[in-house]
Amino acid sequence: KVKRVTTRDIRARKGGDPVVVLTAYTAPIARLLDPHVDVLLVGDSVGMVLYGMDTTLGVTVDMMINHGQAVMRGSARACVVVDMPFGSYQESKEQAFRNAARIMSETGCAAVKLEGGREMAETIRFLTERCIPVMAHIGLKPQAVHAAGGFRAQGRIEAEAEQIRDDARAITEAGAFCVVVEGTVEPVARALSAEIGIPTIGIGASPACDGQVLVTEDVLGLFSDFTPKFVKRYADLSTPISEAAARYAAEVKSRAFPGPEHCFGLPKTPKA
Ligand code: KIV
Ligand code: NA
Repeated sequence: KVKRVTTRDIRARKGGDPVVVLTAYTAPIARLLDPHVDVLLVGDSVGMVLYGMDTTLGVTVDMMINHGQAVMRGSARACVVVDMPFGSYQESKEQAFRNAARIMSETGCAAVKLEGGREMAETIRFLTERCIPVMAHIGLKPQAVHAAGGFRAQGRIEAEAEQIRDDARAITEAGAFCVVVEGTVEPVARALSAEIGIPTIGIGASPACDGQVLVTEDVLGLFSDFTPKFVKRYADLSTPISEAAARYAAEVKSRAFPGPEHCFGLPKTPKA
């Protein structure tokens, strides 16, 4: 049995080899990614990517637990981190603990992730002091889409840049073991990565971060409802999937499939 990467291993990577993170929601994808990544993130992006929701706001704790369990079953090595969905942690630190503890005990994951900076610092401290490692998430916060009036790059104006740097300091002091920095301009991502003592995991936040994360379906060309500038597509799996479905449909219609080799109870025909 291989030993999993731990949250302590990730924290210790500050200033060292870049931390490699991809999202996973299912066992088969987790199995394929596991040898290549340090962290598998069960993101609440699952709501948009697998369920066709417009935002992540409709994702529930039960959904995150089901997908977290699938990713744990499909992986052996990676550190698995599960997102806390909207409404499951913002009310109070006690509510956050209750839901985080459920996610950890029912999935076996190593840590939870939640969106927020200084306003979530007290909650992050409460969880980390009670054996729940927390990955923070600052900069562009998808759960804040309505409050923010849409998605756009963060930190272009000085007040906003200072706010993000302050958020980074606050979540570090509160005990987060690392932090996702999303959709943030390079100078701000660079400054806060240099300033704080925990790894910054960038998504649309430049190579100045200590690691990178992308949504796997974006990487594989399997999600095109919305493709931000920061996505790099490493493969186009949508074309082979469409082509396979089209060939299957044609063969069913022409009765070319199933062939004799796919049938039970037919006399064996000697191979030519
Ligand atoms: O939900 C998600 O996939 C995320 C990553 C993009 C960081 O939060
Ligand atoms: Na998320």
